[in-house]
Amino acid sequence: MSAASVQANRISTPRNSSVLLPAPYWLSYPEIARMAGASVKELPSDADQGFRLKPEQLEAAITPASRLLVLNSPGNPTGMVLSRAELEAIANVLRRHPQVLVVCDEIYEFLLAPGHTHHSLAAVAPDLSDRIFTVNGFAKGWAMTGWRIGWLAGAQEVIGAASALQSQTTSNVCTFAQFGALAAISGSRQCVHAMAAEFNGRRSLLTEGLMAMEGLKLMAPEGAFYAFPDVSHFGLDSMTLCNRLLDEVGLAVVPGVAFGDDRCIRLSCAASPATIEDGLERLQRFLSSL
Ligand SMILES: Cc1ncc(COP(=O)(O)O)c(C=O)c1O
Repeated sequence: MSAASVQANRISTPRNSSVLLPAPYWLSYPEIARMAGASVKELPSDADQGFRLKPEQLEAAITPASRLLVLNSPGNPTGMVLSRAELEAIANVLRRHPQVLVVCDEIYEFLLAPGHTHHSLAAVAPDLSDRIFTVNGFAKGWAMTGWRIGWLAGAQEVIGAASALQSQTTSNVCTFAQFGALAAISGSRQCVHAMAAEFNGRRSLLTEGLMAMEGLKLMAPEGAFYAFPDVSHFGLDSMTLCNRLLDEVGLAVVPGVAFGDDRCIRLSCAASPATIEDGLERLQRFLSSL
């Protein structure tokens, strides 16, 4: 391929392009892929296997149409954190398939349960850095949710195309949000670490409460601020279960079907310990009534 066609190949979406999406996934990824004209191939996983992407599963899923793999660690909705060894194994697969680019969404990088470390694929496999695109932002680590500011790092020609696209759609990030982000990135990380420590306590509270419930299957979340238990034992689809939780015990949780897994529900621990305890009690009351 000539340099010009490599560039065109990177910044356009040729017909039949396919995005490889480990499931469960953050719900915007498939829609973003479809908006760009790509199809989506889901790579399913489950609580029993810790919601992990297996290298052999990735290898088997790649076809000549595969253009992009999306990785999200720490992950929404499962809280799974990819280890360095897992990233190395994924990188080994990618080395055999030079047409596959990778987006690594690392927005929860500072929210890690004790014993877990965040690794960037771009640092683990620097030889692949020309096809790794790292996404991050301020909404989680700095709790600047709603400020709509983040960043994308990767090869210059793609960043240029992304900037052009953004300038014709949302125009730019509004000025006060840019100054807020500047203060966040250049200031002390003390507030980030203090918040992450607080989340560790809340995540443990949620995890222990769910582990104590019969009939749930839970991979203990390793990061982010969610838990994603498998509730299929109760025989309801996730939407019905969530609607009934809301109507019958006043508990709002998100159906797993939105994240590509109808067996599960997503609970958030971005709430006070008292609210988490109250939510756990409501969930237990409802499940006991089934
Ligand atoms: C995995 C993941 N990536 C990106 C985002 C988007 O963050 P922002 O609020 O900065 O748009 C979210 C928000 O929920 C998320 O969970």
